[in-house]
Formats: sequence, structure tokens, C-alpha cells
Amino acid sequence: MKKYAIILAAGKGTRMKSKLENKSKVSYEILKTPLVKYVLKALKPLNVDKIVTVVGFGGEVTKSIVEDESFVVWQHEQKGTGHAIMQASPALKGEEGSTIILCGDTPLLQSSTLEKLMLEHENNHNLLTVLGAKVPNPFGYGRLLQDENGDLLKIIEHKECNEEQLKIDVVNTGVYVFDNKLLFEYLDLIKPNNKAGEYYLTDLIEIFKNKGHKVGVSLMYGDEEMLGINDRVQLAYATKLMKNRINTKLMLSGVSIEDPDNTYIGADVVVAPDTIIKPNTTILGKTVIGERNIIGPNTYLENMEIGDDNEIIMSHLVDSTIGHDVKVGPFARMRGHAIVEANNKVGNFVELKGAHLHDGVKSAHLTYLGDCEIGDRTNVGCGTITANYDGYNKSRTVIGKDVFVGSGSIIIAPLEVKDNAFIAAGSTLNKDVEEDALAIARCKQENKIGYSHIIKARAKAKKENK
Ligand code: UD1
Ligand code: CA
Repeated sequence: MKKYAIILAAGKGTRMKSKLENKSKVSYEILKTPLVKYVLKALKPLNVDKIVTVVGFGGEVTKSIVEDESFVVWQHEQKGTGHAIMQASPALKGEEGSTIILCGDTPLLQSSTLEKLMLEHENNHNLLTVLGAKVPNPFGYGRLLQDENGDLLKIIEHKECNEEQLKIDVVNTGVYVFDNKLLFEYLDLIKPNNKAGEYYLTDLIEIFKNKGHKVGVSLMYGDEEMLGINDRVQLAYATKLMKNRINTKLMLSGVSIEDPDNTYIGADVVVAPDTIIKPNTTILGKTVIGERNIIGPNTYLENMEIGDDNEIIMSHLVDSTIGHDVKVGPFARMRGHAIVEANNKVGNFVELKGAHLHDGVKSAHLTYLGDCEIGDRTNVGCGTITANYDGYNKSRTVIGKDVFVGSGSIIIAPLEVKDNAFIAAGSTLNKDVEEDALAIARCKQENKIGYSHIIKARAKAKKENK
């Protein structure tokens, strides 16, 4: 049996109160991942044959987010959920199989819930199954009207409910499984004859019943998982729930998180056991972290690849790679695909941009290493700068193995310092340095014996004559 999915993501999200013209609601992010990506992620284990996303308001942005994982169709005017599904007709009409329909603004839905819904749909030989939820506060949701046997009669939108119906606490989550052929066969029977003047997808329940097809409900409890993000308060609340879910999973897998309330880890981050994450740390993107690291406090990592046994304190590291047994920080920065191999030290106020540091390099303090390669065991003194930019071009610096770079050196790229060279402190280099050479590039010191008191007397007289 083939499986399909349709994700509704055309809505504007008026309650987000944004002034941005092209910002679709489903592009708002939780832990740097757009809302609709969570829905796609939840769908993954279901191995759906084709996913269709309906985009509309801010559709170009939504399209760019989903197009690598789904087929995109446009709903140029938002005339309701039924009308949105009609736009998927060219992509799916007439196909044999089951179609799961979801909303792009429900990031907390879990794969297990969707799998259970699919299974119940198949096992009960339903042609339409609604994912319902019994919730403490049904306000705003469509209510499931059931008969005394629990059979679903219809779904009534909140704004169409009478006093009695408003008391119903079993609601429509907005997730359904349909027999695909029948879905597109009956879609045209939906009429916009309601207070909103919209095509309600939920009208299909009555239509299926009237045609004598089996309709069922798969029930879940509580409203956390089905939470739809409509405003920024719900966005913050969902972020909190997602953060807790991710942190809990990591802790149960063997990662220590000292203060989970103040640790923000993205859904795609991988951390191996026995790594300790200290408070106020954010780890996002496609970051992969090995075993026995100590990360934090106050550290930001994004798209980092980090091996085992490193210590990273109070630092901001992005798009870079760290090997093993490296000490980083406090206050270090990495960006632009820096590579730091094993047994390195990258100390306080050291910035690496596109730098490749081989094994055992030490750069302990106040240094900028940009667009350079540094060989094994080289020591980079405090205050070293690789001057890589002339206002127009970026150039590379290559420093060999076992080099000693004295403090306060400025190395003007492009330039090469060969193995085992020694650069005297305070040098400004603009020429290559040969192997084993000593490079001194600064004014020669001159000491004038007994001259100090003459200088002081001169300064004193100047002050008194003012
Ligand atoms: C819908 C359901 C309601 C259910 C609730 C669950 C209907 C008629 N009602 O109501 O029973 O309790 O979801 O959250 O279906 N969308 C489009 N195009 C449109 C309209 C909506 O793509 O023309 C998308 C939205 O972007 C959103 C989803 O469909 O992702 C749901 O639409 P929304 O307007 O939020 O529906 P609700 O009124 O919440
Ligand atoms: Ca909604």
C-alpha cells in the first residue's frame, strides 16, 4: 500500500503580527529549525512515498525550506483547509493508497503518534481516520461530535458550535488519514457554506458517512503534542517543550546536562555519552560532539564537529572542526571552517577564521589567525596577527612545524614561514622565512646610558612653563 502526505502550510499567521511581507508562519524557528521541518522530521519514519506541501503566503520562503524533502504546490488565495487540499489534486488525484494530512505549524507532533494513527486506520479498514485529542481546554478547536457508540458524526468548528457543543472536550488535531482516491473524488463536494465562507476540509467527515464509508477516530490525550503555533507566546512555549524533550533524550542516552532549563540544543545535534554540558550553553545546527567532552558554561556551538576529550569553555564556535584533547577558551572564537587537530590549545581571545592548526599547536592568548595553516607543535605567541586582508583580497599564511612565533608578531600574507624557524617578538614580517632561520623585523634597540634623568628634567620643565 502506497502512502502519501500533505502538509498544509499556506496560511499567513496573522497573529504573529509580523510586518515582514514574505515571512510565512511555518518559517518561524524553534532552536534555529523552521516549524515545518519538525513536521517533515516526524513524518520520516513513516516512509511516505510522496510528500506534498501546500504553500501560499510567503510561499517562496516556505518552498526553499521544504523543497529538498517534498513536492511543492501553490495555494495563491487562502480559502480554507479544504481548498488547500484541492491544490494537491494534480499531484495525487487518482492514486491508490493512504494519505496523511498534517499542518505545518504543529512542531511537537511525534512520529509514534502518526504511526499509531496510520496503523489504526489500516487495522480498522477505515477510509477516513481523524486524530482526535481529549484536552483540558478545547477553546478554539473543532469539536468531534460522536454518537452514543463513539462513532464520529461530524466535526464542528469552534465558531459554529452551540452552547452544548462548546462543552465537548474531544477536539480535532487537524491530522487525518484518508483513502487517497476517495479524498480527491469527494473534495469537490465541499461547499463554503459556513460563517467563515471557507472550504472546510472537516466537511468530508459527513460526506464520507453519507456515502456509507467507514470513518474512525484515533484518540490521544493532552494538548501538548498537537499544539499549533499561532502567536509568539505559543512559539516560546513550544520552544520550551521542544528543548525539554531534546535535553531529556540526551540525558537518558548518557550525556550530562547540568542545567537543562538553561541549555538549548537543536533537534539535529548529536552528542556521545559522558560528555558534560555546563549551564547557559547553546548547541545548534548539524553539530556532532564525541565522548567525554566538557562543554560550557556560556558556550555557543553551531555546525561544529567535535571529537573526544576536549574542553570548551565560554566560547563562540561556528562551522569548524576540533579533533581530540583540545582546550578552547575562555572567550575563543572559531568560524569560516577552522580545523583544529589534536592536543591543541586555543586560549582566551583567540580567533580562528579558516585556519588549519595541526597537532599540538599552542595559541594561548590574544591572537587572530585567519586563512592560515600552522604545522605540528608550533607555538604562537600572545598578540600574533596574520594580516590576511589588504582591503580587496584575502591571502594565506603558511607556517611550518616546530616554529616559534614570538609575541606581538604581525605576519603579512601571502607569506610562508618554514619548519623550525624562530620569529623574534614584535616582528612585522613581509618576507618568507627559511627553515631554521631567525627572523627579526623590528627597529634595533639602543640604550643611552645615563640619559633617563635628562629626559625627565625636560618633561618637568615643560610642565612648569605652561
Ligand atoms: C483547523 C481545523 C480544526 C482543528 C484545527 C487544529 C478546519 C476547518 N478546521 O482549524 O477543526 O481543530 O485546525 O489545529 O480544517 N491552511 C492553508 N490554507 C488555507 C487555510 C489554512 O494552507 O486556506 C493551513 C494553515 O496554514 C494551517 C492549517 O492549514 O497550517 C490549519 O489552518 P488554520 O486556519 O489554522 O485552521 P484552524 O482554524 O486552526
Ligand atoms: Ca490553527
